[in-house]
Parts: sequence; structure tokens; C-alpha cells
Amino acid sequence: MRRKQLLLLKVGIVAWLLVVYILFTYQPSTTSPSLSQKSHNINQQLDKLEDELSKQSKFYSSLLEKLRGLQRQQQEDHHDDFRVIKDGPVLPILLIACNREAAVRRSIDLLLKYRPDQDRFPIIVSQDCGHKPTRETIESYGDQLSLIQQPDLSDIEVPLKERKFKGYFLIARHYKWALNQIFQKFDYEAVIIVEDDLDVAPDFYEYFSATYPILRSDPTLWCVSAWNDNGKAGLVDVKNGSSILYRTDFFPGLGWMMTKELWDELGPKWPRSYWDDWVRAPEQRANRACIRPEVSRTRTFGKKGVSNGLFYEKHLKQIHLNEVFVPFTKLNLSHLHQEQYDPAFEKEVQNSQVVSLTEVKSGRLTQGVKYKIVYHTKDVFKRTAKALGLMDDFKAGVPRTGYKGVISFFYGNNRIFLAPGNNWQGYNPSWS
Ligand SMILES: *[C@@H]1O[C@H](CO)[C@@H](O)[C@H](O)[C@H]1NC(C)=O
Ligand SMILES: *[C@@H]1O[C@H](CO)[C@@H](O)[C@H](O)[C@H]1NC(C)=O
Repeated sequence: MRRKQLLLLKVGIVAWLLVVYILFTYQPSTTSPSLSQKSHNINQQLDKLEDELSKQSKFYSSLLEKLRGLQRQQQEDHHDDFRVIKDGPVLPILLIACNREAAVRRSIDLLLKYRPDQDRFPIIVSQDCGHKPTRETIESYGDQLSLIQQPDLSDIEVPLKERKFKGYFLIARHYKWALNQIFQKFDYEAVIIVEDDLDVAPDFYEYFSATYPILRSDPTLWCVSAWNDNGKAGLVDVKNGSSILYRTDFFPGLGWMMTKELWDELGPKWPRSYWDDWVRAPEQRANRACIRPEVSRTRTFGKKGVSNGLFYEKHLKQIHLNEVFVPFTKLNLSHLHQEQYDPAFEKEVQNSQVVSLTEVKSGRLTQGVKYKIVYHTKDVFKRTAKALGLMDDFKAGVPRTGYKGVISFFYGNNRIFLAPGNNWQGYNPSWS
């Protein structure tokens, strides 16, 4: 539309200049003046014409300039509407890869498919392992992403009894190198970390964009994760819960965002192996929480990695990937700040109706009512979790998705809390 109008305008200007030229040069004389008189007149007319042309030319250039500005503005507005995300901070995606060509391709394809803006979300694939076909696969994406390669391919020293966990040592080394590149070499403010076995949801970028300011402004938060450890279809509100977000004391990983400041803190003491469990230890977590969604924004399809196959089949594989695009950047997420969240959360759990596991399993709960199953011991927690299909393990005493000891999930058509008694004293690191 705009393009057409501009073209018409240009044609119009040329036509106008032509008319002006003709008007000034082709004036029929009524008298018959002498030759020199004639020549003098022509000179005068030419001067006038030159003057006039130069004025008109200036006028039309400035008009064109203005129109071009308008057109640019309009294109930008349209562009932003289409991509939903207004300008915001640059959040690079660090994709950790090794030697799985098909997996890395699947991960990259989805990351590219949903990426709203290449400048705001540069994708940096970090490859370890020196596997040539994987490198070539990554390189085949051209300038849609950048490839960096972990240079230290030397064998890694692993204590004898941990030989079969060597993969965890290699991963920890790779993470350390790659995150140093992100923050020390490229000087980004934050990063979103994914591995080469994750599918992402359509609103993956929107989710991190919207939660970034919360992460920045609340020192009691230390990460945002796209993952819900209890995100199976039967345990979350798939129909109506896509916009629900929580705080959790459990570090979920699996598609997560951290700030440069956190890396400055953790990087220098980064462990040689098992980095995720190390991160979950009280010395590192220091009582900080992550934001996590009700419905996962990532899903893992990796089975052949270092994590165990049975765990994958029983839990990881069944995580429901969100399908609805939630315009998080247009929502008010200030309720996630601790000073707003904690009182509201505590009240909600306090006011929910106590129920037994048997009653929950019977499927005869009143719709719309919030319930809670109370636990006092580790065994009751584990038994209840297992019976409902929830994760029943602890890391540093914290159950998966737990916040103040409470697990929030959706069962049948009810919101249910698996909650500790009123005399709860905090997590017990000996629970495992
Ligand atoms: C859907 O969720 C919103 C808040 O997230 C809530 O206000 C509304 O009542 C829910 N609707 C149903 C049918 O559960
Ligand atoms: C966002 O919600 C909070 C309550 O959670 C409210 O105090 C605040 O005014 C809201 N902000 C905007 C911009 O609507």
C-alpha cells in the first residue's frame, strides 16, 4: 500500500517538474522584440526556472523524507504487533550440544520457529565433544545462529568409583566454559539455557521476556524455569491454567534463565560434576526461589543422554508441553514478587479444605473447591506423591516444585496442595 503511494508520488513529482519547465521555457511572445532582447528574456527565464526548480526540489525531498519516516514507523509498528514482544533486553539462548545431530536439529528448528526477533534472542549453540556431523548440522543454519566450540577435548579425570558418571563431569566442564563465554566474553546481562533434547512451547520467548524484569527486581529469586517437574497432563490445569505461574524452592533447570550476577557468584566455585544437584544445595541456593509455570514451556525428548531411561519413561516423557500462546508481557506479573506472593499463597493453602488421599482418589470432590492433603513425615509425603503420580524425591530436602514445603497440583478438576502441617520448621536436608 505505502510502496504504491510512494511510487505515485515520485511519478507525480517528475510530471510536475516537467510542467514547470514547459511553463517557464515555452512562453509565446505577443510582441516581436529584438534578438538581443529575446536572448536577455530567455536568460532571465532560465535563471528563474533554475531557482524555482531548486526550491521545488528541496520541498519535495523534504516531503519524501517525511513520508519515508512515516513508512518506517508504520512498518515497525506492524512488525511489533505481529511479533507481540515489544522492545526489551537482549536474552541470548545458550544451547548446549554434544554429538546428537538429530536431537540438535529438532531443538534448533523449534527455537527458530518460535523466535520473534533474531536481535533480541540470539541463539548461541555451544558444542562440546568435537563431533563433526553435529558441528556440520549446526553450521548448516548459517547466520540464524552462532556456533561456539568448547576447546578442551582432553580426557577428564574422574574418581574410579564414579567412572560411569564421567558424562556428568564433561557436562559440568562444558557449562562452565560456555557460561564464561556468554558473560565474560560476550558480556550479556542474562542467558536462557537449554540442552539439545528440549522442545519449546510457542510462548517460550514471551514467558522469559515477561519474567525477566521480575527476576531482576526481586533478590529472593535466582532463576526462571520453563519446566514443571509435575507437569504431566493429569496433574496440571491444561484447559485453563496456561497463564498460572508459581514460585518454587526447587531448582527445576530444563530451560532456565539466570543473570550475569548469579554467574559471577556461582562461576568461580562451579563444581567438577553433578552441577544441578550442587546448585540445589543450601550453600548455593541460599533460600532463593525460581519462577516456574503450571504448564511446562519445555519438554524433553532425550532418552539417550546421561540421565536414566526408566525415569524418562515414567516421568519426563509425560510432561505436557503448553500449546496456548499466553501474552505474558501484557499481563501484570507483580504478584510473583515475594512480598505479594507469600501472604497470598499462605492464605490460599491455609484456607483450603483438608482432605484425605483416599477421598482425592475417589474422584468425588466438589468442583471449584481447593483442597489440601497434609503430611508430617517423609514417608507420608512419598506414599502420597507416589499414589498420585507426583515426583516423590527430594534434593537437599526440597521436594520437586515445592514452595514452603507445599506441592501444588491439579487432580480431576480440583486444585490440591500436598502441604506440611502448621508447625513446619523448614526443609530437612536429611530427607532424600
Ligand atoms: C480459569 O482461571 C482463571 C484464573 O487463572 C480463573 O479466574 C477462572 O475462574 C478459571 N476458570 C475455570 C473455568 O476454572
Ligand atoms: C499489578 O497488580 C498489583 C497487584 O498484584 C497492583 O498493585 C498493581 O497496581 C498492578 N499494576 C498495574 C500496572 O496494573
